Amino acid sequence: MPIRPVNATAMTSEQHSTHVIPADANGIHEAAQTLLAGGLVAFPTETVYGLGADATNPEAVAKLYDAKQRPSFNPLIAHVANITAALQLARFDDMALRLAEKLWPGPLTLVLRAQPDCAVCDLARAGLETVALRVPAHPVAHPLLEAVKRPIVAPSANRSGHVSPTTADHVTSDLRGKIDAVLDGGPTPLGLESTIVDCTGEYPRLLRPGAIPRMALQAVIAAQLPDAPVDGHRPSAPGQLASHYATRAQLRLDATEVRPGEALLAFGAPKPKGSERATFTLDLSPKSDLVEAAANLFAHLRALDATDAHSIAVAPIPAHGLGEAIRDRLMRAAAPRS
Ligand code: TXA
Ligand code: MG
Repeated sequence: MPIRPVNATAMTSEQHSTHVIPADANGIHEAAQTLLAGGLVAFPTETVYGLGADATNPEAVAKLYDAKQRPSFNPLIAHVANITAALQLARFDDMALRLAEKLWPGPLTLVLRAQPDCAVCDLARAGLETVALRVPAHPVAHPLLEAVKRPIVAPSANRSGHVSPTTADHVTSDLRGKIDAVLDGGPTPLGLESTIVDCTGEYPRLLRPGAIPRMALQAVIAAQLPDAPVDGHRPSAPGQLASHYATRAQLRLDATEVRPGEALLAFGAPKPKGSERATFTLDLSPKSDLVEAAANLFAHLRALDATDAHSIAVAPIPAHGLGEAIRDRLMRAAAPRS
């Protein structure tokens, strides 16, 4: 499929079309060139689709905040191809190094003290002396980062506050016309964002539950991984807005019955009482598997939100393993809108 050259610097918001590029070798090359020219390209990672921009280019990063309509105090994750590139950007203590060596490439983000000459620009770090780094393991994200040879910031490729995208279609439905291109690499395998660990203090702390369960991290560091304290101002508690990931419809969590007019987000058996009266039902995992549920979570939320149900009853999800991160996202989506 021929791809028109994209003049990224000439792009103004709104009136440009967004190219959907197949994620083959040509597409990845094209995407890399667009990123290097200061453009915005969404690409798949193993967790969710990210909206990429050159982390070293403040103008590109500013365009990214604009496209996402994201409050600019929220710092971004810089993605790199390997640990060697990460070591140039931040200082790793023993624990951080152990986590990186065991779990990268993978769905883990480390918040670290930035090197004095860290190439990730101030705007991308929201002026902090720390930087969030991730080495994704995905057959499209990885070669893209290798081709660009620069850190790429990539928040989830949705409009701020919306549910994270797990397909290229989700990306275009939120950001069409506001970004240069989306590399279509099919649905993302994990479907839940990376786990974020703060390694800037004496001991690592969990900032955001995510695709790697807390237990797996504790096994690597051979220590407990407590939650980071929630602190109103410093953006040390990611997705700190309670109403992050908001759906239009109200969510009712741990529902043991379905009320009239409600859609149902089920989780295997047993089904909540009155399930047969749900206006629409989707099952996160018919076999009650939390990994499958994580992969389906955002797509199912979007699909149910697109029906005209005013409320979505969500069946109880267990809190162990990936259930912790799934429950975290559901709680945020259910919170009163700020
Ligand atoms: O799986 C993921 O992590 C996806 C894929 C695309 O990589 N990305 C993602 O990015 O979820 P985003 O921007 O939606 O969430 C990143 C979170 C934000 O809540 C932000 O507050 C936190 O990371 N963060 C970034 N830099 C930070 C820092 N220096 N200190 C504390 N938190 C930070
Ligand atoms: Mg996000």
